[in-house]
Amino acid sequence: RHNFIIAIDGFSSCGKSTLAKALAKKLKFAFIDSGAMYRAVTLYFIRHHIALDDQQAIDNALNDIHIDFIPNALKTEIHLNDEDISEEIRQMYISDKVSEVSAIKAVRTAMVAQQQKLGSRRNIIMDGRDIGTTVFPDADLKIFMTADPKVRAARRYLELTEKGEDVTLEEVVENLANRDRIDSTRAESPLRQAEDAIVLDNSNLTPEQQLNFVEEEYLKIK
Ligand code: C5P
Repeated sequence: RHNFIIAIDGFSSCGKSTLAKALAKKLKFAFIDSGAMYRAVTLYFIRHHIALDDQQAIDNALNDIHIDFIPNALKTEIHLNDEDISEEIRQMYISDKVSEVSAIKAVRTAMVAQQQKLGSRRNIIMDGRDIGTTVFPDADLKIFMTADPKVRAARRYLELTEKGEDVTLEEVVENLANRDRIDSTRAESPLRQAEDAIVLDNSNLTPEQQLNFVEEEYLKIK
């Protein structure tokens, strides 16, 4: 492998994508949001009424699902079968279901294969839950992010309400706790800190401080 891979894992709403995006811009790496892929699958399953215990329906669905990341001037859009679903997948009804869908073995096998392909040639930063443990166990740099659950919920609540979504802080707190529980306890590649990951607790750090922290780690090894 000649490309450089940075894996950023951690709990829900720790600011992984914010950091990954900023870092990708600074280092001129490609950024891949693996969570968006699981969200896209979840949207498809909801729209097509796929029962989560119907293995045949799940396999057929996975064969029909094509996910693309399309960079445009402002941001990278995520497309599901050629439809831009970037905004749709951020909604609460997707967040409420995504961890259940992500725990399905066939779903993970399909997504991990695509993620490995996306990271096979370019320098990339990928964020998720199992990037440093399962997708790229040999990643050059692994960061594991955590933050105080209250800080995480407050940030996510602000983000959703600013977009006009009708949620309460309690709903957000409950959603984060549920997802963290399902993600950490599932049988198939659960959320775990890789042994060689560097922990970044950003409860009291500005985005700039987080960026500097990771950039310094990168400069040590590049
Ligand atoms: O990163 P984000 O919060 O958008 O991810 C949504 C959900 O997708 C997570 O709660 C988790 O259930 C699932 N996920 C996963 N493995 C990844 C990335 C996300 O299981 N690598």
